Amino acid sequence: MRNWKRDFYPFVIDRCPSIYSLKEAIFLAFNECRPQTLALFENMDEGIFRCQPHPDFSPVGWHLGHIAYTESLWLLERSAGSPCMFPQYCKLFAADGLPKSKRVQLPNLEEILYYLETVRKKVLEYLEVADIEQQESLWRFLIQHESQHYEIISYVLELVKIQQLSVISDQLVVLGQVDVSVINHQMIQIPAGEFEQGSNSINALDNERPAHKVYLDTYLIDRYPVTCGQYHLFMESGGYENSCWWSQSGWEWLQNEQVTQPLYWCNDRIYNDHPVCGVSWYEADAYSRFVGKRLPTEAEWEKAASWDAKVNQRRIYPWKNAAPIQHCNCDRLIGKTTAVNAYPSGQSAYGLYDTLGNVWEWTACWFDGYSGFQSYPYIGYSQVYFDQKHRVLKGGSWATRPWVLRPSFRNWYYPSVRQIFAGFRCAATP
Ligand code: AVJ
Ligand code: FE
Repeated sequence: MRNWKRDFYPFVIDRCPSIYSLKEAIFLAFNECRPQTLALFENMDEGIFRCQPHPDFSPVGWHLGHIAYTESLWLLERSAGSPCMFPQYCKLFAADGLPKSKRVQLPNLEEILYYLETVRKKVLEYLEVADIEQQESLWRFLIQHESQHYEIISYVLELVKIQQLSVISDQLVVLGQVDVSVINHQMIQIPAGEFEQGSNSINALDNERPAHKVYLDTYLIDRYPVTCGQYHLFMESGGYENSCWWSQSGWEWLQNEQVTQPLYWCNDRIYNDHPVCGVSWYEADAYSRFVGKRLPTEAEWEKAASWDAKVNQRRIYPWKNAAPIQHCNCDRLIGKTTAVNAYPSGQSAYGLYDTLGNVWEWTACWFDGYSGFQSYPYIGYSQVYFDQKHRVLKGGSWATRPWVLRPSFRNWYYPSVRQIFAGFRCAATP
């Protein structure tokens, strides 16, 4: 059961300036974000806390300590000018401190909870005297930072879960019946024209800035993310055995990895209308070719999700202004994927379903800065990933927190990554 605040938070910061001062709103948002982070650790056994189910991802306990470390670094040390309260944790919990393999030697949960609590208490004391007008972006960044680590913790917990389940499910493979709703094949034609990409909102992170005009020719884009039922046809047709669907780097990746289905694949046909989840960019790219389509560019995705051509304006959310909770599958409220047509009220102006929440969507684009990019709060946040090696994902997943759920938000991973909750939709040129 959620209380009334769920309809209100986290948007109290933006919507209720007349009721709350900025400081009060930030105080409320910090207090709203944290309990759900801690809830992931309730009754967690020590083994899971420090285990590393995949070498590219740190243990969940590390993420928890890193949340405290980051808050302390930016607010207490860099802003308030206080000395570091826990110097013994600096190397361990800094993003650039230790290789991921060394992050398994962790203090226990109680010690990390004490770390979080102690830092947070000081932070809230500092909030009372801080120059909030000048630091607003930084405080908002930190809520979004915690939100992102919350989602990464969710990935690691899911990896633990499927590794525990794999022993059982190996013996229980029942092939799902192919039963694809016709509705899911629909594409929407987006007329040529300019739209506004990116954002100058106070919430926008460095890589979303500055907002800028982009002209796009007419294109087609799937109304829904690609479903398991649709993807099953690709698998059944030998999609993983035929190099003709794959890019050269994708085929090389496939030969090395020897995968035959998405990471979070489930044969039960009740998932036929759910989006495919746990595919690498290479798989998304190959499937798109198989159906005679392609992945959308980031701009194509963003225009289709956020542009309202009738009023020539970008919407805050695809469905306009209401908080995301009832309009998409996010914030772990459901705890897994849902059918791609489960949220008709979440449609964009062009009629796309499920652009926010459910699964992240791979785009054709490399992650790069927009013209006029300025790094904030440090070059390691975005800029070091402008290396033509990371692909942009859009839209958020069922585990994405509302603070980072918006059409301009940009996520990025190597094209080989499958552990995040990612699927895709296709586009085409008419
Ligand atoms: C945007 C999810 C790729 O995990 O490296 C967290 C988010 N940056 N702390 C990452 C992030 C710094 C980032 N991703
Ligand atoms: Fe971080």
